Amino acid sequence: MQHPQTLSLPKPDAESAAHSECVAEFIRDRIHDAGGQISFAEYMHHCLYAPGLGYYSAGSAKFGGAGDFVTAPEISSLFGTILARQCAEVLTQLEAPAILEIGAGSGRLAAGILKELADSGALPEQGYKILDISADLRERQESFLRRDAPELLNRVEWLDALPEGFSGVVIANEVLDALPVERFIRREQGIAQVCVVTDGDGFGLVESKAPGMLVAAVESIEAFLGQSLPNDYASEVCVAAPQWTADICGTLRDGVAFLFDYGTSRREYFAADRSGGWLRCHFRHHAHDNPLILQGIQDLTSWVDFTTIAAAAVDNALDIAGFVTQARFLIGGGLDKYFADFAELSTDAQLRLSAEIKLLTLPAEMGENFKCLGISRGNLRPPSAFEFGDRTTTLG
Ligand SMILES: C[S@@+](CC[C@H](N)C(=O)[O-])C[C@H]1O[C@@H](n2cnc3c(N)ncnc32)[C@H](O)[C@@H]1O
Repeated sequence: MQHPQTLSLPKPDAESAAHSECVAEFIRDRIHDAGGQISFAEYMHHCLYAPGLGYYSAGSAKFGGAGDFVTAPEISSLFGTILARQCAEVLTQLEAPAILEIGAGSGRLAAGILKELADSGALPEQGYKILDISADLRERQESFLRRDAPELLNRVEWLDALPEGFSGVVIANEVLDALPVERFIRREQGIAQVCVVTDGDGFGLVESKAPGMLVAAVESIEAFLGQSLPNDYASEVCVAAPQWTADICGTLRDGVAFLFDYGTSRREYFAADRSGGWLRCHFRHHAHDNPLILQGIQDLTSWVDFTTIAAAAVDNALDIAGFVTQARFLIGGGLDKYFADFAELSTDAQLRLSAEIKLLTLPAEMGENFKCLGISRGNLRPPSAFEFGDRTTTLG
């Protein structure tokens, strides 16, 4: 049994600690029901999405200063403004289009995009749809929009499932990284699946014979790389990602999907020196690598293998519109326009704007690690944010 390193983290308050204990109890019951162990992906699923309990299903703050992490739309309204203009480029080429945001978090990005499109007279005819797995976040999105953009609330519709024959723009920012991943170890005698067991009051990790679908996934990675992974190499694979992508492709009759996330090509993801994988945990703005604590009150997330997403899109007859870093996307999308009146801003506003732009674009911040993959269907001009710095060839 292995125990990941436990770092010194802030102590949860009593209410959060009690909530986490309920989630842990729920997971202990699932492990018991399953005969003593569950896969890591199932464990991660319960931690994030157990009904009424999981990190995304229950009511903790999550985003922003009072939460556990920040995302691009929470850092700066520039992200939404620039993305809105990219949406407009696509929307004007379509008849009766809409925007569909998957996993809308706090609702801030939706509000920003809608306000920018309203200001430029480019609101989509069929409105702005949101599909989020979390009922709690749906409520929060509605109250955020009611406060921040009340005049546009009637343009927003919450969906329970992907629509059929969708025409327009699909947006998913940091959704793929929230899909549960399987953890595996390449042993000399085969592929081991990492499973979660109870261990006293806590949890531990054990190795188990990998099921066929995990063996197939790792073998297809090895076939792609043209060689076996080194012995004792440990990493993650998101077995749900190809189907998630296929579902998005199935919904998109014509239009573009912008998929933003931290991630990289499959070659880099499974590079020999990256044993250990890409899973990270976030609690009160501390990033660490122990998923076996703070159940339901910390975020569990893994980098995205964008080769898998691009391949699934192509398999489903979509085109790759582009694959660029977040910095390139924002610069290609017209970031410099926001400097035009920089000298006229107050010193405070200048400092704030500089700090936001640095966070969004510097390589050591979100600029390089975050990417945008654009996938499209139909005879459309590619969005201008993909014009420079396209890295699609790195995905092959
Ligand atoms: C890391 S948060 C990102 C939130 C927001 N997009 C942002 O950038 O601030 C992940 C979001 O995806 C949602 N989510 C996760 N899996 C989902 C799925 N399969 N379908 C729809 N929403 C999902 C979560 O409820 C949450 O709103």
